[in-house]
Amino acid sequence: MKIGILSSGGDCPGINATIRGVGKTAIMHYNMEVIGIHNGFSGILHKDVQALDERSLSGILNLGGTILGTSREKAFRKLIIPDDSHSSIISERYAELELDCLVCIGGNGTQKTSNLLSELGLNVIGIPKTIDNDVWGTDITFGFDTAVNIATEAIDRLHSTANAHKRVMVVEVMGHHAGWIALYAGMAGGADVILLPELGFDIDKVNAAITERAAKGKPYSIVVAAEGLRTARGETTHNAGYIASKIEKATGIETRETVLGYIQRGGNPSPFDRNLATRLGGHASELIAGRRFGRMVRMNGDEVSSIPLSEVAGKLKLVPPHHDLIIQGGRMGISFGI
Ligand code: F6P
Repeated sequence: MKIGILSSGGDCPGINATIRGVGKTAIMHYNMEVIGIHNGFSGILHKDVQALDERSLSGILNLGGTILGTSREKAFRKLIIPDDSHSSIISERYAELELDCLVCIGGNGTQKTSNLLSELGLNVIGIPKTIDNDVWGTDITFGFDTAVNIATEAIDRLHSTANAHKRVMVVEVMGHHAGWIALYAGMAGGADVILLPELGFDIDKVNAAITERAAKGKPYSIVVAAEGLRTARGETTHNAGYIASKIEKATGIETRETVLGYIQRGGNPSPFDRNLATRLGGHASELIAGRRFGRMVRMNGDEVSSIPLSEVAGKLKLVPPHHDLIIQGGRMGISFGI
């Protein structure tokens, strides 16, 4: 069998570990031919590919980014799935490349497109990827653990400078519309306030919590805010500066903001993400060998399994309001701004 691997959507640490997991298992255990498709779905449209072999798959386990490059698939969705949806240029390219299966490493958008291609009759396997951890159907995505490690280290560092100046520090973390990174890094980093898109927030409640801390002799506070927060002004992203100005004005305490941004997607994957990527990649090859197409590999607890792409497409996995970390944080005096 000949399989093509692509990475699509935002990059994250662990993509190369996944490419290695799929590729080495396919080549060494199942004797398959493997090609790498460059820059996401555009690489199929332009037949921009490279052969992958044991040599090209060596030395990439710990590398961040993606050796294949990536792109946002929205730009290609119209090309990929034209209105008539009876045929598509991507089906032609898939046939011209003589592929027996297409492995799509990506987040929500990629898995939605993967399902569309599967419905068109292509043999497709999805592998969930994102620092946001918001892909429905899997308990965790690779990239998330590394991003939480990066964000937590940043929050740890902000405690000392906030303490030195008796300031409030507002830290904005990524996560798109989900608050998984904010919740896990906020709790791990000992934040005093954690603001999640799923819960919303009342700035007056935030200010009251900070003022109460100051009254108890705790002169600095750490506020972790998910980038996807919806504020009273209706903005849904990048609110750290707005929130910081509101806090400083209401509490009289000097407040500064830090936006972690793309640092959370850079650098080498954590050991946890390397092994998670390896497990998911290996299982993808197992599904291909068994000709079980149209599925996304996933973690169900600590078990690697798979579900139909049709069950994943178009859904989002958000933080449940009664997540035990939220309950536990509340019991320990951490404010969630509600
Ligand atoms: O999906 C990963 C992610 O980093 C989100 O957390 C963030 O909102 C988005 O990608 C940024 O997208 P782009 O890389 O296109 O700016």
